[in-house]
Amino acid sequence: MKGAKEEKTRLPLDEGTGYGRASATCDEELVRVGPGTPCGELMRRYWQPISQSAHVTEVPQALKVLGEDLVLFRDGLGRPGLLHARCAHRGTSLYYGKVDEQGIRCCYHGWQFDVQGRCTDQQCEPEGGRHRDNVRQPWYPLEERYGLVFAYMGPPAKKPVLPRYDILENLGADEMVFPTGPSGFGAGADDTVRLIPCNWLQQFENTLDPFHLTALHTKHRGVHFCADLGNVPQVRFEPTERGIRYVSTFKRLRDGREVDRISPALIPNIRSVPSVMLDLGPSTHVVWTVPADDSSHYLFQAGRVKKSYKGTADMFRTTRPVRFSDEDSDRTPTQPRLWSELTPEQIQRYPSDWEAQISQGPITLHSVENLGTTDIGVVMLRRLLRQQIRVVQEGGDPMGVSFDPDEPVIKVGGVNVFTEVAPQT
Ligand code: FES
Ligand SMILES: [Fe+2]
Repeated sequence: MKGAKEEKTRLPLDEGTGYGRASATCDEELVRVGPGTPCGELMRRYWQPISQSAHVTEVPQALKVLGEDLVLFRDGLGRPGLLHARCAHRGTSLYYGKVDEQGIRCCYHGWQFDVQGRCTDQQCEPEGGRHRDNVRQPWYPLEERYGLVFAYMGPPAKKPVLPRYDILENLGADEMVFPTGPSGFGAGADDTVRLIPCNWLQQFENTLDPFHLTALHTKHRGVHFCADLGNVPQVRFEPTERGIRYVSTFKRLRDGREVDRISPALIPNIRSVPSVMLDLGPSTHVVWTVPADDSSHYLFQAGRVKKSYKGTADMFRTTRPVRFSDEDSDRTPTQPRLWSELTPEQIQRYPSDWEAQISQGPITLHSVENLGTTDIGVVMLRRLLRQQIRVVQEGGDPMGVSFDPDEPVIKVGGVNVFTEVAPQT
């Protein structure tokens, strides 16, 4: 008997160990976003949200976007300004500056810059600086819409119009657009987090990864959103005018219907996911994954909501940690609570998007991935980004960019479509 047990427990030869493996690398072309990098130049051809309008005040804020250190403020005339943080005089950060009607004044020698970087005063120079017009603090254009401040950090001659999205337009009398961000909400955390510590792409790829709804959000430890998502869907990925979308079909819902979940990703970094609670109808939120640098990013969103809506705090509590499925043998009578209130043990036991994506590393290692059929959307996205990078490198205009001030609103196209299924006879 002993011999048979030993036979059963004996391990095969030690193949596939970690020893001697080549060092792993990331996909440099897609993950780097600084000035002059391939993907950074693609990103710079689009307006990017960098703050909520309500958060921009006369108190300068330091922020990093696309690898650049910047300072954001609102001058005394109400105009938002985005300047390089490093003062054009001798490099002190304008974060310590003082704002008035004319702009921001550096703390060190009092040089003042307006919201377009013009030097309007050099306090200690004769006549306020006879040559101050020769100095320009690097700056970027801003526009405000949907309660967000958008920056254009690309070549001035290629500045596109700031897009409008159909789901955020033509509001009813009882509706409003509600801005959110930067926030860990949308990445499985909550508002206690502003900066998400991983590369923008591994977050954005989640947009074309419908199978994680079944695995991570339903089967792993319980139901985060809706038990019907636990059935592995039939999924097809399709190119669209502005990117890629998936159509994820769940047959035999508990109420007898079936649903097509249509979820678009817009190049370079926008998503609009239809309700994961399987509510009827179009998606209500536009979400931007904005790189801060190569290993961190922000999430901003603008949502169409009822005027009675009070913000996302309630949503954090109902979607995280979990509402347990009936089948979950580890069922625990825990009340839903904020991500930031969870213990390390609870986080390990009940992971969500944050843990799945952050644990891939600050920049995931593409060379040691093993992709499967469920990764077709991810592969298509990487291929399309690379293609759009080439378009920019060859002097063209990337997908979705428009210079027409009368450009029609963008049809976002995220929606849950239900079908009644005839009972089988
Ligand atoms: S370093 Fe800013 S004014 Fe001198
Ligand atoms: Fe998710």
